[in-house]
Amino acid sequence: MPTLHKLTSAETAHNMGVAILKYGLYPRCRAQNYDNLQNNIFDWKVMNPVGLAAGFDKHCEAIDGLLNLGFGFIEVGGVTPEPQPGNEKPRVFRLHEDKAIINRYGFNSFGHQPAVVHVENWYNKLSENKRGYVGVNLGKNKSTLDAAQDYVKGVENFGPYVDFLVINVSSPNTPGLRKLQAQDQLQTIIKAVVEANSKLERENKPPIFVKIAPDLSESDKVAIATVVAARDSGIDGLVISNTTLSRPESLQNKNKVEVGGLSGAPLRQMSTDLIRDMYRLTFGRVVIIGVGGVFSGQDALDKIKAGASLVQIYSSLAYEGPPVVEKIKKELSELLKKEGFENVSDAVGYDVKEDKCATS
Ligand SMILES: Cc1cc2nc3c(=O)[nH]c(=O)nc-3n(C[C@H](O)[C@H](O)[C@H](O)COP(=O)(O)O)c2cc1C
Repeated sequence: MPTLHKLTSAETAHNMGVAILKYGLYPRCRAQNYDNLQNNIFDWKVMNPVGLAAGFDKHCEAIDGLLNLGFGFIEVGGVTPEPQPGNEKPRVFRLHEDKAIINRYGFNSFGHQPAVVHVENWYNKLSENKRGYVGVNLGKNKSTLDAAQDYVKGVENFGPYVDFLVINVSSPNTPGLRKLQAQDQLQTIIKAVVEANSKLERENKPPIFVKIAPDLSESDKVAIATVVAARDSGIDGLVISNTTLSRPESLQNKNKVEVGGLSGAPLRQMSTDLIRDMYRLTFGRVVIIGVGGVFSGQDALDKIKAGASLVQIYSSLAYEGPPVVEKIKKELSELLKKEGFENVSDAVGYDVKEDKCATS
């Protein structure tokens, strides 16, 4: 992938990377298993907490190839119910010096229908020996007025097959989407989605996550926490966070002026801080997936200690290619040992619990 990036535009490199994985042209990684990275979350036995973030496999077409890279879980999509082209090209920009990406894809999607076929194929091939867990990131069409209905369609179409679903109310490139994080709107969407999930004809319903933006005010955070941590909310987790609209002063590359969401190293601290805030505000009641600027085992551990049970990567995969997955796992396993944690689960929220002890 890094080589592809040198040869062509960011979007073409990305599409080629997905195609290589889709057609099995990338050699299968010798995924190492680390005992101290294995964890039970929901009814899952996760082999390691490192996952793929949404937006890499937007059309859900490379599920097996991605699981072969050694991820413990992957999130494919975002998908919209109907096909839509997204914004005009160019719409992805690399900021090399900053180890960052700005994108304004705007939910380019082939729609639910072809994506469901891919997900159903993966599901039908599943053996007892499951390699990793798969979730779908659900978006809404630009022209849809009743957002809740688009998310409900996502639950109905993908819910029968996947391990988890993510309600994406935080992509910055669909007008008005982030406003759905406001308390009333979020409550309406969650109520509709949870009801649709309960009607799925399967014994274990897929856990539902809400993916949030890093650009939230204190009152936004409290409002979201109030809705998702309510005992009867039906929400199982938060994905923290999506890309930021802010532009840290540290950015060097000329592409920093491009409109869109910024991901990668400059997002790292922002998302870790938000994980810590939301872990506190939700009293540890929901599972947090931490995402934003994870390039190393230390970055992953920082998010885990702030309250994340699982982490995801996108930008580091784009910059460093598939070996980064094994690198992060190895480093994380070693760091946990060094810091005296028997298992990754012992480190979840460690910093927040320490703070509490210090102030009580
Ligand atoms: C090109 C690109 C496309 C993305 N598309 C989506 C998407 O469709 N849905 C979503 O929830 N997040 C999307 N994201 C956000 C990522 O899932 C992730 O939250 C963000 O990039 C931060 O992680 P990172 O710093 O490891 O890249 C996208 C990110 C990038 C760079």
